[in-house]
Amino acid sequence: MRKSFIIILFAGGIILAGCKAGGDNPGLEYAPNMYHSVAYEPLSQITDEDAGAWVNSLDNGRGEYYNSNKYNPHGMNMRAPAPNTVARNKHHWLPYRLPKDSLVIASAVLKNPFDSTKAVLAEGKVLYEMYCKHCHGAKAEGDGLVADKYAGVANLKGDAYKNITEGHIFHVITHGKGLMTAHGSQVLPEERWKIAKYVKTLQK
Ligand code: HEC
Repeated sequence: MRKSFIIILFAGGIILAGCKAGGDNPGLEYAPNMYHSVAYEPLSQITDEDAGAWVNSLDNGRGEYYNSNKYNPHGMNMRAPAPNTVARNKHHWLPYRLPKDSLVIASAVLKNPFDSTKAVLAEGKVLYEMYCKHCHGAKAEGDGLVADKYAGVANLKGDAYKNITEGHIFHVITHGKGLMTAHGSQVLPEERWKIAKYVKTLQK
């Protein structure tokens, strides 16, 4: 009786000690190597190479919790961008900045950077079927599954849309228009241009 009481007291003490979490103290971690990322964590940085040495499931001789990139200044995991610079994408394009109400300018000025190669059109088709077909339909006739339920999906083969430019399509995908919501956060700029190319082939 007395023995089990002592065991309960001891176990209870450990559990209570573990409850003291907050701020930088995560408390007692059950299976700690499930909490600590092997990949760099951009927003947390543990510079102590011995931190978590007692868990040690890694072979690099460092503690399990060590999470710093020693090649960056101050061991930062994520570098701050150089001051007064604008990030470009892998094609060296600047971010698309024309605001939503500039459709007329976009239609007139923007040029598709891609040629109508087989590869571009094939990618455009895959992307169109992923992001547009459920509303606009496989042939862009405004008869996708969503259009069965909701009226107002544009028939892109209709007279009103037949002659829109690829820049127009790019701009509408980016910002949306009327009932159509913006898709710019889901579809990369290069993908938008490929979709625009493919839509033009559908409209023919
Ligand atoms: C959720 C349904 C939906 C999806 C998904 C969708 N659209 Fe639309 N789209 C619409 C509707 C509805 C309109 C008509 C908007 C209006 O006139 O109010 C429209 C209009 C358009 C127009 C004509 C804009 C104009 O000038 O009036 C183009 C071009 C277009 N969509 C292209 C696309 C492309 C390309 C995709 C895929 C990236 C896409 N849409 C995805 C619903 C959708």
